[in-house]
Parts: sequence; C-alpha cells; structure tokens
Amino acid sequence: MPDTHASCPIATPAAGATTLFIFGASGDLVKRLLVPSLYNLDRDGLLAREMQIVGIDIADHDNASFRRHLKAFIADKAARAHAEGRDSELDETQWQQLETRLHYIQGDFTDTDIYHRIGEIIRDSGSDSALFYCATGSRFFGEIARQLGRAELMTEPEGAYRRLVVEKPFGHDLESAKALNAQLLSVMKESQIYRIDHFLGKETVQNILVSRFANVLFEPFWNNHYIDHIQITAAETVGVEKRAAFYDTAGAMRDMVPNHLFQLLAMVAIEPPAAFGADALRTEKAKVLDAIRPWRVEEAAANSARGRYEAGRMADQPVPGYLDETGVAPESQTETFVAMKVMVDNWRWIGVPFYLRTGKRMSARDTEIAICFKPAPYAQFRDTEVDRMASNWLIIQIQPNEGMWFDFQAKRPGPELEMDTVKMGFAYQDFFDLSAVTGYETLIYDCLTGDQMLFQRADTIENGWRAVQPFLDAWDASPEIEGYAAGEDGPRGAFELIERDGRQWHQVGSATGPGIAPVPMNGKRQKGEG
Ligand code: BG6
Repeated sequence: MPDTHASCPIATPAAGATTLFIFGASGDLVKRLLVPSLYNLDRDGLLAREMQIVGIDIADHDNASFRRHLKAFIADKAARAHAEGRDSELDETQWQQLETRLHYIQGDFTDTDIYHRIGEIIRDSGSDSALFYCATGSRFFGEIARQLGRAELMTEPEGAYRRLVVEKPFGHDLESAKALNAQLLSVMKESQIYRIDHFLGKETVQNILVSRFANVLFEPFWNNHYIDHIQITAAETVGVEKRAAFYDTAGAMRDMVPNHLFQLLAMVAIEPPAAFGADALRTEKAKVLDAIRPWRVEEAAANSARGRYEAGRMADQPVPGYLDETGVAPESQTETFVAMKVMVDNWRWIGVPFYLRTGKRMSARDTEIAICFKPAPYAQFRDTEVDRMASNWLIIQIQPNEGMWFDFQAKRPGPELEMDTVKMGFAYQDFFDLSAVTGYETLIYDCLTGDQMLFQRADTIENGWRAVQPFLDAWDASPEIEGYAAGEDGPRGAFELIERDGRQWHQVGSATGPGIAPVPMNGKRQKGEG
C-alpha cells in the first residue's frame, strides 16, 4: 500500500469571545453577506455564544429596527433561494439566537463620541477583544483607523486582540494605497490589519493551491518550458446595477484588477510556499506581484484595451448602455471592460504572457483561469491525416460550474490516424456541496481566530497597484474608450491585443460543467460537443 496522508474531516473549534463592531452597518454588504455569514457560522457552532455584534451607521435605527431591517431582507432572500431549491429557509430559532446579540449605534464615523461608546461597550462586554469591520466607503477607512487609534482602541490588552478589517478598494492608485497603508500602520501593527479580498474566500480560489501543491502531476509542467500562456477572465453579465456612485469613480480596472485578478494571478503563479502559513504564503505572493514587469506608459497603452458597454441585448431583453444607466455622469470616462497583457519576469514565467480581462455586460458569467500548454512536437505525425497539433488546455473554473477541465488529444476511432480534442473534468458539485455558503464565512472566521493567510499584506497591495499604475497613467494621457454592445465579450481592441501575438481568447462560458466525467466513458461524445 502506498503511504497516504489524505486528511479526514476535523471538528473546527468555535472562535473565542469578542465584540464585533461593523462600521457602515446599514449598507448593502452587511445585509447581503456579513450578517448571513455570521448566521451560517453561528448555525455551525463557530461563534462564541458570548459574542456581541454592534452595527454603527448614520442611518436612523435602534436595536429593534436594525434587527427587523436585517431579518426582513435575509428571510426574503432565503425564501426565494428555497423556492428555487438552492438553500433552506431562515431557521427562526437560529435567527433568534443571533438576533439577540445584534445591536446598533446611530452616529457619524467622524464623531469622537462614537469611539467613547465603543470603549464602554468593550469594557462592559467581559472580553477585551474586539474586531472592527470597515464595511464603509473607502474614504472612511483612514478616518476610522485614526479615531480608533486616538481613542486607544487599537492597543491590545494582555491576552486580548484588537483587529481592523478593511474592505476594498484599498486606495485609488499607488500613491493613495501607500498613504492609506502608512495611515493604518501609524496606529496599529500589520498583524492587526485584515485587508479583505472576497475572492480569497471562494473555495475554488483556495483550491488552486491545493491542486497545484498536493498533486505531483502538475508541478513539473507548471513553468515556461511547458506553458505557452495563461488567461485570467472575470466576465459578468450584470451591468453597473445600483452602484454607479461607486463604480463611475472606479471603473473595471480599479474595481477588479489590482485586487481580484491579481490574487488569481498570484495563486496560479507563486512558488510553493515553505509552509501553509500567513507569512510564507504572503511573502511568495508579494514576490510574484513584484516580478510583474513595470511597463513604460507607451507599453501599457499598447498592451491594454478598455471598453464601455453600449445598449444591447442580454437574455433576449434590451438593456441600456453604460452612459444611460442611472447615476452615471453623462461625460463619464469610466471603462466597464479591460483587457491587458502582463509579463512576470522571474525564472518560472519569463516569456509566458498572462492575458487578463474583466468586464460588465459580457456574454456569460464566467470567472476562469485558462492555462494553454505548448503543443507537442509535430514531426511524428507528418505522414498522417493530422495537419497540426492542438494545445492542451487546463481550465480552472472559479465560478459558475466550479471545477477543473482538461482538454487533451485522443485518437478518433477508425482506420486513419485522426485526433480530436476530448475532456477530463472535475466538477465540485459531483463531490462537494458549495451551495449554502456566501464565501465570507471563512474570512470572518479567520479574522476572529487571527489567521491572516487569506488577507492582503501591505506589500502585496502596493505591488498590485504598482503593476497597474502605468495603465492608469496611459489612460489619463489618452482617455478614449472603445464601445462594445452589451452581450459581447469586450471591444475589438481586446481581440486585437491577443491576436497580435498569434493567440485567441478562450471563449467565455465554454468550459463544461458537472457530469462531464461519465460521458466520454460511453465513447459517444462527438467532435464539437460539450
Ligand atoms: C466586487 C466588485 O468586488 O466583485 C463588483 O466591486 C463585482 O463590481 C464583484 O461584481 C464580483 O464578485 P463575484 O464574487 O460576484 O464574482
């Protein structure tokens, strides 16, 4: 028998007692993701029974109306998910157990009185530990940190912790990200800061490391000897929704690239860390982002394309163009799509382009990493019907249809030597249940237990902004934006960007889903199917 060390499920212990303060408690994030995640964690016995949750915001609520507002939204969402067979309804007893621990302070984040109240609540709570969560607009992060520092709320008492969680966007460019890091680090230590990137809460993103480093098959081929290029796509079908006030000041690049897409790039490109701990992993990530070639402004312009969606059709319904969306400035210069090429100049990746693209109103929802391998040598097939060698592709599908798909060549049955591309696949759905989680559970639990592995460190944030800064500068100098019709996968320039290099984008939404594995065993799949 081979020696195996596969893990068996272990019981996860509940986090220790603390008070969680949420700034921006009446906002969308709190009702959509944070409180539902706390509910799930509590249901699974992962929160301390003594844990209290205090929402803080300017909106006019008291404890009772805050609880009602959250419950109405969460119960309605659960009922709809239940009707569609996706989730269970809200469990009344379970909700009660959480609800009695939810409180509300009405006030302005800049008001020092709020911070006195926070101090009193911590003193009365019986636990000196506190987690402060900035679920606010990014303009408040620095001020909240400053006020917490001034009120000495970030000073960690013996045996207790004080931690700050910051949502994205972390800064607006390299300079502002550096300034915000400096501001936070002037009142707390790096070990107290949890910079969230919700992509790292996705099981499929965390699984990239397990797939790469727990299987002996991948690592020998994971380099420039065998890989031709890598594509990272985050395609969305939604438009700007009701978020124009934020989105029109950010755009696709700032909203998605230095954070989510670069985290995917880092997961796929890092060297094996010496251990699965926060320091070792984040050091490897910082190194790989630091190895991204700093383009000159003209090179950044040539290696990118940006677009803005125009009116079109989605699921057979007409949808308006970006400039006609509510809240978008008529003279807006904001892109809703970006494609770019980056090079990672280290020993593993020199010469392997990474093509990144993300956009709103694209043809399908599809977040994937497509790895294109170099073709096998052709010579041995020259006297056969085979006229060229197709590449092997490994598609890591982050969402939807979570899984991994491998395209490879097989002989088509018959007297001639002909080949076809066939697939092997792993669908999460065939093995695990990913349905009933928001993706924030792991991240919140990690904040409560002090595990920074899935959070961005100051240097990774700054390295990310450093790599995108030349693109931002190039666009400042030449602000034209190409149009693409809603439902298309970006403007012409995005296709030209990759076609210039003799390559093509992996088609959005084309990796297949659950149940693929049994099909080839029947031997019936025809060319072009699936
Ligand atoms: C957010 C962006 O961070 O990520 C949104 O602000 C985007 O614009 C979202 O829609 C995508 O996340 P997910 O998990 O839905 O892929």
